[in-house]
Amino acid sequence: MDRAAELLFYVNGRKVIEKNVDPETMLLPYLRKKLRLTGTKYGCGTGGCGACTVMISRYNPTIKRISHHAANACLIPICSLYGAAVTTIEGIGSTKARIHPVQERIAKCHGTQCGFCTPGMVMSIYTLLRNHPEPSLEQLIDALGGNLCRCTGYRPIIDACKTFCKTSGCCQSRENGVCYLDQGINELPEFEEVNKISLKLFSEEEFLPLDPTQELIFPPELMIMAEKQPQRTRIFGGDRMTWISPTTLTALLEAKFKYPQAPVVMGNTSVGPEMKLKGVFHPVIISPDGIEELNFANCSHNELTLGAGLSLTQVQYILGEVIQNLPEEKTRMYCALLKHLTTLAGSQIRNMASLGGHIVSRHLDSDLNPLLAVGNCTLNLLSKKGKRQVPLNEEFLRRCPSADLKPEEILISVKILHSRKWEFVSGFRQAQRQQNALAVVNSGMRVFFGEGGDIIRELSISYGGVGPTTVCAKNSCRKLIGRPWNEEMLDAACRLVLDEVTLPGSAPGGRVEFKRTLIVSFLFKFYLEVSQILKRMGPVRSPGLADKCKSAFEDLHSRHHCSTLKYEQNVDSKKHPQDPIGQPIMHLSGIKHATGEAIYCDDMPTVDRELFLSFVTSSRAHAKIVSIDLSEALSLPGVVDIVTEEHLRGVNSFCILTEPEKLLRTEEVSCVGQLVCAVIAESEVQAKQAAKRVKVVYQDLQPLILTIEEAIQHNSFFETERKLEYGNVDEAFKVVDHILEGEIHIGGQEHFYMETQSMLVVPKGEDQEIDVYVSTQFPKYIQDIVASTLKLPANKVMCHVKRVGGAFGGKTYKTGIMAAITAFAANKHGRAVRCVLERGEDMLITGGRHPYLGKYKAGFMNDGRILALDMQHYSNGGASLDESLLVIEMGLLKMENAYKFPNLRCRAWACRTNLPSNTALRGFGFPQAGLITESCITEVAARCGLAPEKVRMINMYKEIDQTPYKQEINAKNLIQCWKECMDMSSYSLRKAAVEKFNSENYWKKKGLAVVPLKFPVGLGSVAAGQAAALVHIYLDGSVLVTHGGIEMGQGVHTKMIQVVSRELRLPMSSIHLRGTSTETVPNTNISGGSTVADLNGLAVKDACQTLLKRLEPIISKNPQGTWKDWAQAAFDESISLSATGYFRGYESNMSWETGEGHPFEYFVYGAACSEVEIDCLTGAHKNIRTDMVMDVGCSINPALDIGQIEGAFTQGVGLYTVEELHYSPQGVLYTRGPNQYKIPAICDMPTELHISLLPPSQSSNTLYSSKGLGESGIFLGCSVFFAIHDAVNAARQERGLFGPLKLNSPLTPEKIRMACEDKFTKMIPKDKPGSYVPWNVPI
Ligand SMILES: Cc1cc2nc3c(=O)[nH]c(=O)nc-3n(C[C@H](O)[C@H](O)[C@H](O)COP(=O)(O)OP(=O)(O)OC[C@H]3O[C@@H](n4cnc5c(N)ncnc54)[C@H](O)[C@@H]3O)c2cc1C
Ligand code: FES
Ligand code: FES
Repeated sequence: MDRAAELLFYVNGRKVIEKNVDPETMLLPYLRKKLRLTGTKYGCGTGGCGACTVMISRYNPTIKRISHHAANACLIPICSLYGAAVTTIEGIGSTKARIHPVQERIAKCHGTQCGFCTPGMVMSIYTLLRNHPEPSLEQLIDALGGNLCRCTGYRPIIDACKTFCKTSGCCQSRENGVCYLDQGINELPEFEEVNKISLKLFSEEEFLPLDPTQELIFPPELMIMAEKQPQRTRIFGGDRMTWISPTTLTALLEAKFKYPQAPVVMGNTSVGPEMKLKGVFHPVIISPDGIEELNFANCSHNELTLGAGLSLTQVQYILGEVIQNLPEEKTRMYCALLKHLTTLAGSQIRNMASLGGHIVSRHLDSDLNPLLAVGNCTLNLLSKKGKRQVPLNEEFLRRCPSADLKPEEILISVKILHSRKWEFVSGFRQAQRQQNALAVVNSGMRVFFGEGGDIIRELSISYGGVGPTTVCAKNSCRKLIGRPWNEEMLDAACRLVLDEVTLPGSAPGGRVEFKRTLIVSFLFKFYLEVSQILKRMGPVRSPGLADKCKSAFEDLHSRHHCSTLKYEQNVDSKKHPQDPIGQPIMHLSGIKHATGEAIYCDDMPTVDRELFLSFVTSSRAHAKIVSIDLSEALSLPGVVDIVTEEHLRGVNSFCILTEPEKLLRTEEVSCVGQLVCAVIAESEVQAKQAAKRVKVVYQDLQPLILTIEEAIQHNSFFETERKLEYGNVDEAFKVVDHILEGEIHIGGQEHFYMETQSMLVVPKGEDQEIDVYVSTQFPKYIQDIVASTLKLPANKVMCHVKRVGGAFGGKTYKTGIMAAITAFAANKHGRAVRCVLERGEDMLITGGRHPYLGKYKAGFMNDGRILALDMQHYSNGGASLDESLLVIEMGLLKMENAYKFPNLRCRAWACRTNLPSNTALRGFGFPQAGLITESCITEVAARCGLAPEKVRMINMYKEIDQTPYKQEINAKNLIQCWKECMDMSSYSLRKAAVEKFNSENYWKKKGLAVVPLKFPVGLGSVAAGQAAALVHIYLDGSVLVTHGGIEMGQGVHTKMIQVVSRELRLPMSSIHLRGTSTETVPNTNISGGSTVADLNGLAVKDACQTLLKRLEPIISKNPQGTWKDWAQAAFDESISLSATGYFRGYESNMSWETGEGHPFEYFVYGAACSEVEIDCLTGAHKNIRTDMVMDVGCSINPALDIGQIEGAFTQGVGLYTVEELHYSPQGVLYTRGPNQYKIPAICDMPTELHISLLPPSQSSNTLYSSKGLGESGIFLGCSVFFAIHDAVNAARQERGLFGPLKLNSPLTPEKIRMACEDKFTKMIPKDKPGSYVPWNVPI
């Protein structure tokens, strides 16, 4: 083998030569740190979020073709890139040269908010367009399936991308052969016909055309190299690892013979995450490159042979072709495989992962192995010793030595047999999210009958997700051979399989009963599917299928994505023609987000001699720290120091709100993930490696309190209860017709901002000044905590925030603690220190939304009027106070949502537990409190036999009224929103259509629900609402504005420039905003609570008005002059051109002693109606349509406001349906990345989304009568929760289950399935509680 001199590849058309490449380096850090191409972002490092998407192009000299594919840079070892061309976001366009149409459109269609996901989104679409310049909508959605966005809700991204599609008229997806545009939903009139006024938020006419000739060409040098260079094995040696890239089969076999233990890395999507997350290390890696014998497909008369090196995307393509060319009966296995491939991971992973890697990895949740295992597939193996064939069967999957690959063997190809005439194959899977999520359970099933009969000749069934690898139900199948395909056989099959495929109660992954139910539900689906075909094929005895049952094996009905937005602009005759207020102005960083030029904290260049800090966190939930041994960590190369509590003596605590919190723990830990010490090293890798070597010895303490119930039992609360009381509840209970009592659990939520916690602290070296660059919502607090830790006055510490890649409440107090420790290290060593959390660390340390337990007792009349309501809210606050008290207070103040309860008592407690401390998250208590109330109302409706919407309406505020804390409210706009939502959604017609659908389909049910919204906006105190700004006018007439608000995606800086533009009558292009800093605007409040633009806008307006007043005499002397003239004249007359602006805060107050006050300035009203379809057998659901109406006052920027509404709505859908945190019984968070914790992806977007804003209303005394919309929309996500509730209810009623339906949040597939009780849920074995230790504890 030759030792390659150098690694050669291209990045964005430039040659990169690496002489001393380290094989452990992945492309993402290489791009970001080495090449300083920071447009490609780190979101998770494990292939699950798509933020790091780049395009990889290669030239194949055999077929003389260049291929392009999207891939996740975080999982690409750079050594695998020899001869490849990498295109990053910087390579396709920039503001300095020419922006690419994809970049332009995603920005102009408002597809960016915080912008952190945008480069990845752009690269996915860009690559799609390189391969398909006029893609179909289906291709587009598929291309974006692996890209997560936490801000936008995806609608504007799809709208932007749709502008590249060939046709926008037809849906391109047909159901029953009819285009949806022809048929209408549920045979109802199309939305557009009843709602004509729909405005676009962008103008397609101004878009740059897509011109493929303008794209970067593939580097000719790489083509020549591929054509001419002799095929030589390349070897790259690093400090710890050697990378061997054979280019011929012989060399590959040779290498594998020499290094039998070395993995054969193809896509690195299995080996990579294992090395990163599980600490597996391989000293040698063999990575074949372009070996033809591994990359072929051959379809013969009886079989299809696929090379093991083919990517899953190539396999998808080949299967598609084969299915087209073969008769249907031969393709059943291929159809089943293809179906699974469309939902397997995202497109980037499918582009990278190889068929061989997939098979050989034998993951327990592999989607393909269960199918391949039932299909009698054969694996063709080769080694230096010769060829061998092994069946892909249970023994192979279990790695039995006799059936497994030998260490020196390579999997060359897989032989898959064509199906036969009387042979049927199907695959099933159910995951937490419909796409890009590993299956909870999946299955492959195959049956073969004799010609014309229905007697089982062959039967194979296998499952994934239920054991350490794919499990085959071999014995059950054997016992069923010879039986006719009928219900008795099904019954026997279910029992046999349940007996054979067993799961202990404590099985890893939990959800044991759900898994058991899926095992038989899939079997039932297969039974029905085959019965249906047999009937069609006409065997004599095959049982007929009732029409109602067919829904069992049909897919969830899906429409093409369509959306409409309706808003009216404020028509003001006095308005200046160029006044941007009320215009849908693009986010001012939109284009920079899309080109990757927007700079986030970790994109800042390395400072000279910069160090990296990595935290060591507690691994026990409640324990005494017996000892900490730093010696091994300190002895590692590059380690500079380890900061412990000892160093921080005297400053190791800071008062967060009302409770002091320790920065580092060394005596006792009270949750997993608490900061114990911090390793400072020369590089990130060194710091992380050393952190793993710090040895902490613990001694567990009692009690261990994880759940709310345990906290109640131990009386473990932060402070005493908070209480709100109105009317006379006890008296009212005496006069009501009925009383019910109930409770609901609401799970927590992870912020999942795409940019993890990041900071860079730079000591200035003079006068002890220190600069803190940090991704935070609260610069003043960071300044305070850093100053306190360093024992410096605040004027020496400056905190700067350019922009934040999403925050949602999660970048405040914990960020401060980490910044203080980072600053301490920087100050101690006089060197800059950077700290950027990995996704898993971030999720472990930072906490999230409070889980809630709501208990209610409602007294109501026969007509649904609730006269008395007695509620108790318990929140799981975690180990320290943080904002828990404020959260329960806000929950109390907002709990009545849109309803007038004449007699109400609500008490709330924040529980102290041994979980990471929970904190603010968009909505701040309201999403939980509101859901408790809505659940109570739904139950009241069920008890009264009334429709929930009727009970909602009858209890709703009407006109002028009083809230429980005696603040006046005018509910006119609430009622208007509700009515418009009912009309817009054609509620009654669709309700009838849903009922009809439900009566015709036993196994699929639809549900429809409408929910109102009253979201109070305000911060409860005047001081919390004060804001300040600073405006400078320069002599050339340009303006620089700054204010106390943080740009975290909501577009506040864009709105502020709109404000300056209106006030000074200056084009927006003359106004600039550099970022937020404690240096320019001191003592600012936290950016949160939907009020950032409101409050800071009033301060900016104040500054502008001060300036205008000063300049009035000058302007009136020369009214035709320009700002340049006026600025010069003002300067000449010694008039200051700089002004601060201030807003003292809304008049607000709240007394918890009297339970009365005026804590809020105004209310945002709204309503949402959602329709879903559920699969009763699997628990899957599809969001079919959502209609939302919002009262936004006079929108300053409808594009940004709609963005906030739909983004929050989508986060709400996540909260209430898919996002589920899992903790071990020892309090360890399992869900530490996008592969375990699912936020909504593109598949969760309602396929039809209609948003309408009420006409502008001038009621409030806010900034230009606008309303803050950051948080309110999240609650409307619960319309989906109640739509699912409705669907489940329909299923239960049909099954004769009429009792009260209690469903907790999130309504995951598990909860949906288990609530749709049937013979299968009854059939499964149930473990006696207490007889086993469950894998997880429901928090
Ligand atoms: C974000 C993400 C999402 C995912 N989602 C899904 C999903 O929804 N469903 C699903 O089923 N899977 C999913 N996966 C798993 C994925 O399918 C596998 O990781 C992938 O198929 C492995 O292929 P690879 O080429 O990347 O393997 P590599 O990581 O390159 O190699 C894996 C193993 O296979 C061995 N190997 C590879 N090729 C050969 C060969 N020719 N001969 C002998 N040994 C070989 C290697 O030695 C190594 O041990 C997901 C993975 C990620 C990262
Ligand atoms: S950072 Fe690569 S996929 Fe998330
Ligand atoms: S804009 Fe997509 S994550 Fe923020």
